[in-house]
Amino acid sequence: MSRSIAVFAAWPYANGDLHLGHVAGAYLPADIFSRFHKLKGNSVMMVSGSDSHGTPITLKAKQEGLTPKEVVEKYHERFIQDFLKLGIGFNLFTHTLTENHKNIVQKIFLKLLEEGALEIKETEQFYDPVVNMFLADRYVRGTCPLCKYERARGDECENCGKTFEASEILNPISTLSETVPVLKATEHYFLMMGKFQEKLDEWVSKQSHWRGHVQSLTRAWIQDGLRSRAVTRDIDWGIPVPVSGWESKVIYVWFDAVIGYLSASVEFAEVFGGAEDWKKWWNDLDARSYYFIGKDNIPFHTVIWPIELMAYDTSLNLPYDVPANNFLNIEGEKFSTSRGYAVWLRDMLEKVEPDVLRYYLTTISPETKDSNFSSEEFKAKHNGELVAAWGNLVNRVIGFTCSKLEAKIPNKGELTDSDTALLKKRDEAFKVVSSLFEEVKLRDATKEALAFVREINKYLDETAPWTTIKTDLAKASHSIAVAFDMIRSANILLAPVLPHTADKVEAIFGNTNGLFPKSYSTSVGEGLDKHLVLKTEDLEPEDVFLPRDAVSGTPIEKTTPLFKLIEEANFFTS
Ligand code: MF3
Ligand code: ZN
Repeated sequence: MSRSIAVFAAWPYANGDLHLGHVAGAYLPADIFSRFHKLKGNSVMMVSGSDSHGTPITLKAKQEGLTPKEVVEKYHERFIQDFLKLGIGFNLFTHTLTENHKNIVQKIFLKLLEEGALEIKETEQFYDPVVNMFLADRYVRGTCPLCKYERARGDECENCGKTFEASEILNPISTLSETVPVLKATEHYFLMMGKFQEKLDEWVSKQSHWRGHVQSLTRAWIQDGLRSRAVTRDIDWGIPVPVSGWESKVIYVWFDAVIGYLSASVEFAEVFGGAEDWKKWWNDLDARSYYFIGKDNIPFHTVIWPIELMAYDTSLNLPYDVPANNFLNIEGEKFSTSRGYAVWLRDMLEKVEPDVLRYYLTTISPETKDSNFSSEEFKAKHNGELVAAWGNLVNRVIGFTCSKLEAKIPNKGELTDSDTALLKKRDEAFKVVSSLFEEVKLRDATKEALAFVREINKYLDETAPWTTIKTDLAKASHSIAVAFDMIRSANILLAPVLPHTADKVEAIFGNTNGLFPKSYSTSVGEGLDKHLVLKTEDLEPEDVFLPRDAVSGTPIEKTTPLFKLIEEANFFTS
C-alpha cells in the first residue's frame, strides 16, 4: 500500500549561500528521508523554497547595492545550483515571491481576520533613528529581563529559553548602527495564540513520537502561556497587508514563510501535476508530513504554523513530525555567518564528491545533540568505511570476476549454511534499516547499512574464493555470485545516503536507468511571475527497498573504484 509522505525542509533566507550547517540540519536529512520513501514506493512530495522577505533580505540588498528582488534571484539561483550538485532532489524548490504564494498568504490572513484570530494592538517598538527603520526583533540586542543574560536578542533569551515582550529588553542596542534605539508607538495585527492554547496543548500531548527536545521545547512554550504575537511589520519589503489603510505595512516574514509549505504544494500540483493533487498530502487522514528544520526554528513549526493551520482550515493536516536537528560545529567552533565563520557548501563541493560529503555528514547527523565536523574524523571515516569497507568490497569482487571468472556474474550452486546465515542477515538488515529510516534515525540507519557491508566482507574472507578457485572453480564462482547478490542489496540500503554511487553500482548490474528520478532546473510562470525552480521528475511509485539479486551471466567490466582515499585532512584552508 503506497502512502502519501510530504517532506518539507526549512525555507532558507535568500541572503547568502548555503553552509554545512544548513545542509546537515535540514536539506540532507530531508533528502535522505525522501529518497528512502521513494524507494519504498510511497508517494513523496518534497518541497521548499527561498525565504525571500523580511529584513534579512533588505539588509543584504543594501550591502550588495542590489534591489531586494535581485538579491533573492541571485541566491535562489545559487541554492538551486548547490542543491543540484549535492543531489538534493526537491520535487519543487520555489520561492516566496510568486503570485501563487502571495495570494495564498493574503487569503489565509483574511480568513484569520474573519475567524477572529487576529486583533489590532498598539505597541511600542524599537526604532533606529540612525538608519530610519523599525527594528525587527533580531536586530535588537540587550539584557534578558528575566535572567539578566547580557546577549539576549529581540524578544527571546538563548540562556533561559524564555520569551518576553521585545520592549522589555534591558539596555537595548541596535545591531544595525550599534546605537541605542528609541521606542516608538505603532499599530499591528496580532495573532491571538492564546485562543488556541487548549487545542494546541491537546494536539501536542499526542505527539509522543516527536524527538524529546522537540517535545520539551514545545511544551515549555505552551506552559508559559501563549500570548498574542505581532504578524505585521513596518517595513516595505514583504507581502502587503490586504486591508485598506494598512498599505504601508507588510505581513511578518515568518507568518508568510511557513505558509510556503502549503503554497509550494499547490504550485507543485498546478505546474506539474493535476491542480488538486496537493490535497493528497494535505487532506488525506493517513498522509504524513515531516518538517526538517534546525532547532532554532522549532516553535515556528510546532506552535505558530499549527495555529495558523487550525485557524485557517481544520481539514488541513497538521505536522506529523518535526525532526528538528541540533547544531553542527566545525572543528569545535560554533557556526556564525555574522562572524564569517562558516563552511560554504559550494566550497566543500569543489573539494569532495557529493556522496563523500553526504556520507560523513550523515554519520555525524546532529539528531540528538550538537555534533562536530572534524577534518581528521572525516578522513578517517571516509578511508575506513567508504573506501576500505564499501568501495573495496565492490572493487575486489569485480576485479576477481574480470580476471578469473570470464568477466561475467557466475552461477550459484547449492546454498551452504554460511550462505543461509548471510541471507538471513540481509533480510534482517532490510528490516532494521527500514525502520530506522522510517523513524528518522538516519545516522543509525547508515551505521546498520554499513554493518551489513562488513558482513559481506567477512563472508568473502571466510569463503576465500581466491584460494578455493585453485581446486574448485564451482565453489569459488558460487561465493562470488552470492557476494554480487549481497552487494546489489547493500547498495539499495545505502542508496538514500549515497544516491550518485548507488546509480553507478546499479549500472554494474546492467541497470543504467539508475534508482532515482532526475532533477533539473527550469523556469515556470509568466511575465513578472516567471521564476526559476528546481524540479525532480515524478515516477510511478514502486517498492524497491528490498533485497535485489544479481543476474548470472551479466557481463562485468573493470570500473574505476567507487571512492578514492583522502590523503590530506584539511578542508578548511584555502
Ligand atoms: N528562513 C528561515 C531561516 O533561515 C527559515 C524559515 S522556515 C519556514 O531561519 F518554513 F518557516 F519558512
Ligand atoms: Zn534569560
